[in-house]
Amino acid sequence: MTLLRAKIARRVALGPYDSRVSIGLRRDLSVAVSAPKARIPVSLRPFRQEDLPLLFPAGGDASAQSELVDVEWRLRAAAYGALPSRCFVAVDERSGRPCHIQWLTERGYSEAVRRAGALPALADDEAMLENAFTPVGYRGLGVMAAAIHLIAERASALGKRYLVAFVDADNHASLKGVERAGLTPWSIRTKRQFGFGLFRTVRFDPVAAPAAPGVLPAPEGGTATVGDRDGAGSTGQG
Ligand SMILES: CC(C)(COP(=O)(O)OP(=O)(O)OC[C@H]1O[C@@H](n2cnc3c(N)ncnc32)[C@H](O)[C@@H]1OP(=O)(O)O)[C@@H](O)C(=O)NCCC(=O)NCCS
Repeated sequence: MTLLRAKIARRVALGPYDSRVSIGLRRDLSVAVSAPKARIPVSLRPFRQEDLPLLFPAGGDASAQSELVDVEWRLRAAAYGALPSRCFVAVDERSGRPCHIQWLTERGYSEAVRRAGALPALADDEAMLENAFTPVGYRGLGVMAAAIHLIAERASALGKRYLVAFVDADNHASLKGVERAGLTPWSIRTKRQFGFGLFRTVRFDPVAAPAAPGVLPAPEGGTATVGDRDGAGSTGQG
Protein backbone atom coordinates (compact mmCIF):
# COMPACT_ATOMS: atom_id res chain seq x y z
CA MET A 1 0.00 0.00 0.00
CA THR A 2 2.82 2.39 0.94
CA LEU A 3 4.61 1.49 -2.30
CA LEU A 4 1.47 2.13 -4.32
CA ARG A 5 0.96 5.48 -2.60
CA ALA A 6 4.58 6.46 -3.31
CA LYS A 7 4.13 5.45 -6.97
CA ILE A 8 0.95 7.53 -7.28
CA ALA A 9 2.65 10.50 -5.59
CA ARG A 10 5.56 10.26 -8.06
CA ARG A 11 3.16 10.22 -11.04
CA VAL A 12 1.14 13.16 -9.73
CA ALA A 13 4.36 15.15 -9.17
CA LEU A 14 5.23 14.66 -12.86
CA GLY A 15 2.13 16.61 -13.93
CA PRO A 16 0.13 16.29 -17.16
CA TYR A 17 3.01 17.41 -19.43
CA ASP A 18 6.67 18.18 -19.03
CA SER A 19 9.65 18.58 -21.30
CA ARG A 20 13.32 18.68 -20.39
CA VAL A 21 16.23 19.64 -22.58
CA SER A 22 19.79 18.41 -21.98
CA ILE A 23 22.96 19.22 -23.82
CA GLY A 24 25.07 16.27 -24.96
CA LEU A 25 28.77 17.09 -24.83
CA ARG A 26 31.62 15.03 -26.16
CA ARG A 27 35.40 14.89 -26.22
CA ASP A 28 37.55 13.01 -28.72
CA LEU A 29 40.08 11.43 -26.37
CA SER A 30 42.64 11.02 -29.15
CA VAL A 31 43.02 14.80 -29.10
CA ALA A 32 45.00 16.05 -26.09
CA VAL A 33 43.59 18.90 -23.99
CA SER A 34 45.33 20.78 -21.21
CA ALA A 35 44.41 19.53 -17.74
CA PRO A 36 42.06 21.90 -15.88
CA LYS A 37 43.52 22.84 -12.51
CA ALA A 38 41.41 22.62 -9.36
CA ARG A 39 42.08 25.10 -6.57
CA ILE A 40 42.95 22.18 -4.29
CA PRO A 41 45.17 19.16 -5.08
CA VAL A 42 43.00 16.20 -6.13
CA SER A 43 43.60 12.63 -7.21
CA LEU A 44 41.19 9.99 -8.51
CA ARG A 45 40.47 6.49 -7.27
CA PRO A 46 37.63 3.95 -7.44
CA PHE A 47 34.73 4.49 -5.02
CA ARG A 48 34.79 2.70 -1.65
CA GLN A 49 31.74 2.03 0.50
CA GLU A 50 33.16 4.14 3.36
CA ASP A 51 33.11 7.21 1.03
CA LEU A 52 29.30 7.41 1.19
CA PRO A 53 28.86 9.07 4.61
CA LEU A 54 31.69 11.50 3.83
CA LEU A 55 30.17 12.55 0.50
CA PHE A 56 26.59 12.55 1.78
CA PRO A 57 26.62 13.35 5.50
CA ALA A 58 23.29 13.02 7.33
CA GLY A 59 21.27 16.25 7.23
CA GLY A 60 22.90 17.40 3.98
CA ASP A 61 21.16 19.63 1.43
CA ALA A 62 18.33 18.42 -0.82
CA SER A 63 20.63 17.79 -3.81
CA ALA A 64 22.78 15.52 -1.61
CA GLN A 65 19.78 13.54 -0.40
CA SER A 66 18.41 12.88 -3.89
CA GLU A 67 21.89 12.08 -5.23
CA LEU A 68 22.43 9.60 -2.40
CA VAL A 69 19.26 7.71 -3.39
CA ASP A 70 20.57 7.57 -6.97
CA VAL A 71 24.05 6.44 -5.94
CA GLU A 72 22.63 3.65 -3.81
CA TRP A 73 20.44 2.50 -6.72
CA ARG A 74 23.41 2.66 -9.12
CA LEU A 75 25.63 0.67 -6.77
CA ARG A 76 22.98 -2.08 -6.62
CA ALA A 77 22.38 -2.02 -10.40
CA ALA A 78 26.13 -2.17 -11.11
CA ALA A 79 26.53 -5.05 -8.61
CA TYR A 80 23.91 -7.23 -10.35
CA GLY A 81 25.14 -6.36 -13.83
CA ALA A 82 22.33 -4.14 -15.13
CA LEU A 83 24.64 -1.14 -15.29
CA PRO A 84 28.13 -1.40 -16.80
CA SER A 85 29.29 1.62 -14.86
CA ARG A 86 32.35 2.38 -12.71
CA CYS A 87 32.15 4.75 -9.81
CA PHE A 88 35.08 7.09 -9.14
CA VAL A 89 35.79 9.61 -6.42
CA ALA A 90 38.14 12.56 -6.45
CA VAL A 91 40.04 12.86 -3.20
CA ASP A 92 41.24 16.06 -1.50
CA GLU A 93 44.94 15.20 -1.25
CA ARG A 94 45.43 17.47 1.76
CA SER A 95 43.11 15.38 3.95
CA GLY A 96 42.36 12.19 2.01
CA ARG A 97 38.67 13.11 2.10
CA PRO A 98 36.50 12.26 -0.96
CA CYS A 99 35.32 15.54 -2.52
CA HIS A 100 33.55 14.49 -5.74
CA ILE A 101 31.81 11.38 -7.08
CA GLN A 102 31.09 10.54 -10.71
CA TRP A 103 30.35 7.48 -12.84
CA LEU A 104 31.81 6.23 -16.11
CA THR A 105 29.33 4.11 -18.04
CA GLU A 106 30.08 1.86 -20.99
CA ARG A 107 27.90 0.30 -23.64
CA GLY A 108 25.81 -2.65 -22.46
CA TYR A 109 23.23 -1.35 -20.01
CA SER A 110 19.89 -3.10 -20.12
CA GLU A 111 17.17 -1.80 -22.42
CA ALA A 112 15.03 -1.03 -19.34
CA VAL A 113 17.80 1.16 -17.88
CA ARG A 114 18.39 2.84 -21.26
CA ARG A 115 14.72 3.73 -21.61
CA ALA A 116 14.25 4.82 -18.01
CA GLY A 117 17.31 7.07 -18.17
CA ALA A 118 16.65 8.30 -21.75
CA LEU A 119 20.21 7.24 -22.49
CA PRO A 120 21.82 7.17 -25.93
CA ALA A 121 22.90 3.86 -27.45
CA LEU A 122 26.65 3.99 -26.84
CA ALA A 123 29.15 2.60 -29.33
CA ASP A 124 31.96 0.29 -28.20
CA ASP A 125 34.46 3.13 -28.27
CA GLU A 126 32.28 5.56 -26.29
CA ALA A 127 31.93 6.00 -22.55
CA MET A 128 29.52 8.28 -20.75
CA LEU A 129 29.92 10.40 -17.63
CA GLU A 130 27.00 10.26 -15.24
CA ASN A 131 25.82 11.58 -11.89
CA ALA A 132 28.51 14.09 -11.00
CA PHE A 133 28.26 15.36 -7.46
CA THR A 134 30.45 17.67 -5.38
CA PRO A 135 29.51 18.16 -1.69
CA VAL A 136 28.55 21.78 -0.95
CA GLY A 137 31.75 22.56 0.98
CA TYR A 138 33.90 21.68 -2.06
CA ARG A 139 31.87 23.43 -4.78
CA GLY A 140 33.34 26.15 -6.96
CA LEU A 141 36.92 24.91 -6.52
CA GLY A 142 37.16 23.39 -9.98
CA VAL A 143 37.02 19.85 -8.60
CA MET A 144 34.46 18.64 -11.14
CA ALA A 145 36.49 19.65 -14.19
CA ALA A 146 39.68 18.17 -12.72
CA ALA A 147 37.85 14.92 -11.89
CA ILE A 148 36.46 14.63 -15.43
CA HIS A 149 39.93 15.07 -16.87
CA LEU A 150 41.22 12.24 -14.68
CA ILE A 151 38.22 10.04 -15.54
CA ALA A 152 38.90 10.74 -19.22
CA GLU A 153 42.35 9.21 -18.74
CA ARG A 154 40.71 6.06 -17.30
CA ALA A 155 38.30 5.95 -20.27
CA SER A 156 41.27 6.20 -22.64
CA ALA A 157 43.02 3.37 -20.81
CA LEU A 158 39.86 1.27 -21.31
CA GLY A 159 40.28 1.81 -25.06
CA LYS A 160 37.58 4.46 -25.46
CA ARG A 161 37.88 7.11 -28.12
CA TYR A 162 34.95 9.36 -27.10
CA LEU A 163 33.76 10.61 -23.73
CA VAL A 164 30.19 11.90 -23.63
CA ALA A 165 27.96 13.53 -21.02
CA PHE A 166 24.37 14.80 -20.95
CA VAL A 167 23.74 17.83 -18.78
CA ASP A 168 20.43 19.60 -18.15
CA ALA A 169 20.45 22.82 -20.17
CA ASP A 170 19.77 24.88 -17.03
CA ASN A 171 22.53 23.29 -14.93
CA HIS A 172 25.08 26.06 -15.48
CA ALA A 173 27.58 24.84 -12.89
CA SER A 174 27.71 21.39 -14.41
CA LEU A 175 27.90 22.68 -18.00
CA LYS A 176 30.79 24.90 -16.98
CA GLY A 177 32.65 22.01 -15.31
CA VAL A 178 32.13 19.65 -18.26
CA GLU A 179 33.18 22.25 -20.85
CA ARG A 180 36.22 23.21 -18.81
CA ALA A 181 37.30 19.57 -19.03
CA GLY A 182 37.34 19.88 -22.83
CA LEU A 183 33.95 18.44 -23.85
CA THR A 184 32.01 20.41 -26.45
CA PRO A 185 28.29 20.39 -27.32
CA TRP A 186 27.34 17.88 -30.02
CA SER A 187 23.79 16.75 -29.31
CA ILE A 188 20.53 18.05 -27.86
CA ARG A 189 18.31 15.61 -26.01
CA THR A 190 14.66 16.46 -25.49
CA LYS A 191 12.69 14.31 -23.06
CA ARG A 192 8.93 14.72 -22.96
CA GLN A 193 6.30 13.10 -20.79
CA PHE A 194 2.54 13.25 -21.10
CA GLY A 195 -0.26 12.07 -18.87
CA PHE A 196 1.62 11.96 -15.56
CA GLY A 197 4.45 9.91 -17.01
CA LEU A 198 2.30 7.32 -18.79
CA PHE A 199 3.81 8.29 -22.15
CA ARG A 200 7.43 9.31 -22.57
CA THR A 201 9.48 10.23 -25.61
CA VAL A 202 13.13 11.04 -26.06
CA ARG A 203 14.75 12.67 -29.06
CA PHE A 204 18.39 13.32 -29.88
CA ASP A 205 19.19 16.10 -32.35
CA PRO A 206 22.65 17.05 -33.57
CA VAL A 207 24.15 20.39 -32.66
CA ALA A 208 24.98 22.11 -35.94
CA ALA A 209 28.73 22.31 -36.43
CA PRO A 210 30.02 25.87 -36.79
CA ALA A 211 30.56 26.73 -40.45
CA ALA A 212 34.17 26.66 -41.59
CA PRO A 213 35.51 30.08 -42.62
CA GLY A 214 34.33 30.92 -46.13
CA VAL A 215 31.66 28.20 -46.14
CA LEU A 216 28.03 29.30 -46.23
CA PRO A 217 25.80 27.78 -43.53
CA ALA A 218 23.57 24.89 -44.70
CA PRO A 219 19.97 25.90 -45.47
CA GLU A 220 17.50 25.31 -42.65
CA GLY A 221 16.53 21.65 -42.43
CA GLY A 222 19.71 20.67 -44.32
CA THR A 223 21.80 17.66 -43.50
CA ALA A 224 23.49 17.88 -40.12
CA THR A 225 27.25 17.90 -40.12
CA VAL A 226 27.99 15.56 -37.23
CA GLY A 227 29.38 12.05 -36.99
CA ASP A 228 27.00 9.14 -37.34
CA ARG A 229 27.82 7.57 -33.98
CA ASP A 230 25.75 10.00 -31.90
CA GLY A 231 22.34 8.37 -32.16
CA ALA A 232 21.09 11.66 -33.58
CA GLY A 233 17.46 11.55 -34.59
CA SER A 234 16.72 8.31 -32.74
CA THR A 235 13.49 8.31 -30.81
CA GLY A 236 12.60 6.03 -27.97
CA GLN A 237 9.44 5.44 -26.00
CA GLY A 238 9.56 4.50 -22.39
C1 LIG B 1 27.41 20.50 -10.75
C2 LIG B 1 28.49 20.26 -9.68
C3 LIG B 1 28.88 18.79 -9.72
C4 LIG B 1 29.68 21.17 -9.98
O1 LIG B 1 30.71 20.81 -9.10
P1 LIG B 1 31.97 21.75 -8.78
O2 LIG B 1 33.06 20.85 -8.31
O3 LIG B 1 31.56 22.86 -7.90
O4 LIG B 1 32.31 22.30 -10.21
P2 LIG B 1 33.52 23.25 -10.63
O5 LIG B 1 34.05 23.99 -9.40
O6 LIG B 1 34.45 22.45 -11.48
O7 LIG B 1 32.84 24.29 -11.60
C5 LIG B 1 31.61 24.83 -11.37
C6 LIG B 1 31.57 26.22 -11.98
O8 LIG B 1 30.25 26.60 -12.07
C7 LIG B 1 30.07 27.79 -11.29
N1 LIG B 1 28.74 27.77 -10.76
C8 LIG B 1 28.31 27.23 -9.61
N2 LIG B 1 26.99 27.42 -9.49
C9 LIG B 1 26.60 28.11 -10.60
C10 LIG B 1 25.37 28.64 -11.06
N3 LIG B 1 24.25 28.47 -10.34
N4 LIG B 1 25.34 29.29 -12.24
C11 LIG B 1 26.48 29.46 -12.97
N5 LIG B 1 27.68 28.98 -12.58
C12 LIG B 1 27.73 28.32 -11.40
C13 LIG B 1 31.14 27.75 -10.26
O9 LIG B 1 31.35 29.03 -9.71
C14 LIG B 1 32.29 27.27 -11.10
O10 LIG B 1 32.76 28.29 -11.97
P3 LIG B 1 33.97 29.26 -11.59
O11 LIG B 1 35.14 28.36 -11.31
O12 LIG B 1 34.14 30.09 -12.82
O13 LIG B 1 33.57 30.05 -10.38
C15 LIG B 1 27.94 20.61 -8.27
O14 LIG B 1 27.43 21.92 -8.31
C16 LIG B 1 26.88 19.66 -7.77
O15 LIG B 1 27.19 18.63 -7.19
N6 LIG B 1 25.59 19.99 -8.00
C17 LIG B 1 24.49 19.12 -7.61
C18 LIG B 1 24.40 17.86 -8.47
C19 LIG B 1 24.42 18.16 -9.95
O16 LIG B 1 23.79 19.07 -10.45
N7 LIG B 1 25.17 17.31 -10.69
C20 LIG B 1 25.35 17.40 -12.12
C21 LIG B 1 24.48 16.42 -12.82
S1 LIG B 1 24.83 16.49 -14.57
